Amino acid sequence: MDSPALLRPRAASNLPVQPATVVEDALNRPVRLFCFHLDDDSDISLTEARRYLDRDERQRARAFVSNRDGERFIRAHGCLRRILALQLNREPAALEFRLGPYGRPYLPGSGLSFNMSHSEGYAVCALSRSRSVGIDLEIHQPAFCFGPLLSMVFTETERNHLNEKSGAERRKLFYEFWTAKEALMKLTGLGLNLAPDTIELLLAGDRPCGFTRPLIDGMTLQHIDCAPFADTTLSCYLVTAPRQRNRNIVGITAGSNQAPQ
Ligand SMILES: CC(C)(COP(=O)(O)OP(=O)(O)OC[C@H]1O[C@@H](n2cnc3c(N)ncnc32)[C@H](O)[C@@H]1OP(=O)(O)O)[C@@H](O)C(=O)NCCC(=O)NCCS
Repeated sequence: MDSPALLRPRAASNLPVQPATVVEDALNRPVRLFCFHLDDDSDISLTEARRYLDRDERQRARAFVSNRDGERFIRAHGCLRRILALQLNREPAALEFRLGPYGRPYLPGSGLSFNMSHSEGYAVCALSRSRSVGIDLEIHQPAFCFGPLLSMVFTETERNHLNEKSGAERRKLFYEFWTAKEALMKLTGLGLNLAPDTIELLLAGDRPCGFTRPLIDGMTLQHIDCAPFADTTLSCYLVTAPRQRNRNIVGITAGSNQAPQ
């Protein structure tokens, strides 16, 4: 569903990247999703994006070995700032991010939960005022040799499921499973510090539709169909959970598979 309100320019910010999509979580509360391209100026020009970055982001952009990766980073962060600024009626360059203990960015006092994911020349951002969000996007890499990873990142049940498939189907399933897990790792803010093999997917056929562990009250997992990226093969999942008062992340202790306190 399009969200026309999000497409209206405000203050000095131009249009956010399009299209904006509103999905609903299990409790019918909105999470806004944005898709943006990083390899051309269709969603943001490099010049505009560069203007918004702070010193730390400029430094990170300079550290990339390849120009293309540096430019992708600049556009991703420029777009993220523009989207968030529009929500908060602020200037993109005025936003001051803080990082959680494992690097998850947040905006203190904003009341917004947001999360960005980028893969190759594509990026997505999810944001919500009522839910905590985690999102992951992966462009499928036909040459990526994922076999050695399977025992490290999947449970036995998940591996059995994968082992029933071969070729392109197996590759697709690998990305679907991995992306769903990573969206949860990002929701918690722990990232890879939440061991992927401690997460177990609930499957509806071949599609992840939830988690059997860790169990977090009110958590939802949704497959996201990134329509603007129809020119590539990808997997994308969004996880949401109730917001916890005075916390920027959903509480799971690294290495545990217990429900949050
Ligand atoms: C978070 C993580 C899973 C990202 O994996 P990825 O597939 O390479 O990247 P994605 O494109 O999906 O997401 C990257 C974005 O997620 C956000 N992010 C960074 N750390 C995050 C975390 N711990 N939790 C949630 N989101 C995070 C940022 O916006 C980041 O964008 P940026 O790198 O351009 O700033 C991985 O980098 C990780 O585990 N990091 C933790 C590292 C750590 O422990 N750091 C501690 C010292 S800060």
